Amino acid sequence: MRETSWVSRTTVRDEMGFRTEGGESLQATTKQRDRGEKQDEARAEMGYRREMRWVPREARDDTEGQRRRGTTKEKVITMGEVDPAFIQAEEHRPKPDFTRAEGIPLIDLSIISSPNSSVDNDLALGALVEEIGDACKNWGFFQVINHGVPLAKRQNIEKASRIFFDQPLEEKRKVRRNEEKVLGYYDTEHTKNVRDWKEVFDLNVQDPTVVPASYKPDDEELTRWFNQWPEYPTDLREVCEEYAKEMEKLGYKLMELIALSLGLPKDRFHGFFEEQTSVVRLNHYPPCPVPDLALGVGRHKDAFVLTILAQDDVGGLQVKRKTDGEWLWVKPTPNAYIINVGDIIQVWSNDTYESVEHRAMVNSGRERFSIPCFLGPAHYTNVQPLEELINQQNPAKYKPYNWGKFLVTRKGSNFQKLDVENIQIHHFKIPESESAEKLD
Ligand code: OGA
Ligand code: NI
Repeated sequence: MRETSWVSRTTVRDEMGFRTEGGESLQATTKQRDRGEKQDEARAEMGYRREMRWVPREARDDTEGQRRRGTTKEKVITMGEVDPAFIQAEEHRPKPDFTRAEGIPLIDLSIISSPNSSVDNDLALGALVEEIGDACKNWGFFQVINHGVPLAKRQNIEKASRIFFDQPLEEKRKVRRNEEKVLGYYDTEHTKNVRDWKEVFDLNVQDPTVVPASYKPDDEELTRWFNQWPEYPTDLREVCEEYAKEMEKLGYKLMELIALSLGLPKDRFHGFFEEQTSVVRLNHYPPCPVPDLALGVGRHKDAFVLTILAQDDVGGLQVKRKTDGEWLWVKPTPNAYIINVGDIIQVWSNDTYESVEHRAMVNSGRERFSIPCFLGPAHYTNVQPLEELINQQNPAKYKPYNWGKFLVTRKGSNFQKLDVENIQIHHFKIPESESAEKLD
């Protein structure tokens, strides 16, 4: 009997708008191929879709032949032909030997989440507040466990997110974001003008969310941003809304701890969120044939107040360590949330806590999902250093900026691939020399 020769074919499904094939260097005999299939099935049982398929060489050759003859309808892109829009400049590409050793701090929130715990336990609360303060100062990032978010709510949204992204592109595009409807599905986000290897679905925590109608400073007109919901999965809306409520609760708790760590009253930040602009985002990072050249999300800092991120067990988030600028891989901790300080806390705290750069790697074998929630204040908030935290010795380092205008400018700029740098908080930074002059 003739042994069939098998080749592995990695198929990146059409989420990114095209099909791509790769991984053809692997060859196997029937036995080896069967073993591979078994492993794939085990993975599928764990909840992962199989992305690597073994196909008989003849079939592969046939597709190749069709492509060469131009008879296939699909646009087949081979490894060397990935859209250059995805390719990172050399200095920003992930290094294969990234550091996994030292992790961001892991903080146990059980004393404030468990119903039986006595929150009056001043000593324990004091220690927790100190831990949070140290993590914000030294890392800008930490993970929390025993955070009080019911596991079922997280599992529900994770499942619905998989089902949503698993649909054909044309279905997802029915809830596509555009200039008027700024929430919903989107697959062409760019970070620092390089396209991200991902697709997202955005929703407001408060629906609708009130924001300025235009980025123009003198235009006072307001508008409302509404959530868009797909037909399928039918429970997406319900599970997202329930999850968003949990994010709000956890967000408030964290903001109380952060306020205490800055020596402020526990409820110091509550007022900013009476009308909020918080967003929950479903991220899907499909397998990528060039994971050493592209990124799921390019390096960036989060512009909002605080980010609460759920990452799955694939992992890919990297954080830039403050001490030496090294990119650290954040090892997934089951059911934990990764918290990071956003630009607004940096301004409110007058640089006591800094927003830290991070990015997400992709890989060629497994798709990855993550769900960040970005806490945002009311649109009318003028973001500026808190007056309790500035004085003659420590003058304000930022000029006030209007959050709604900032947000609308950012959203608008996503539709034109800007050649200029995106709006950033450093545009509002007061030069050292000027703040020094004010002392005289
Ligand atoms: C983001 C982000 C990281 C991740 O969406 O802003 O940083 O791991 N995501 O998905
Ligand atoms: Ni981010």
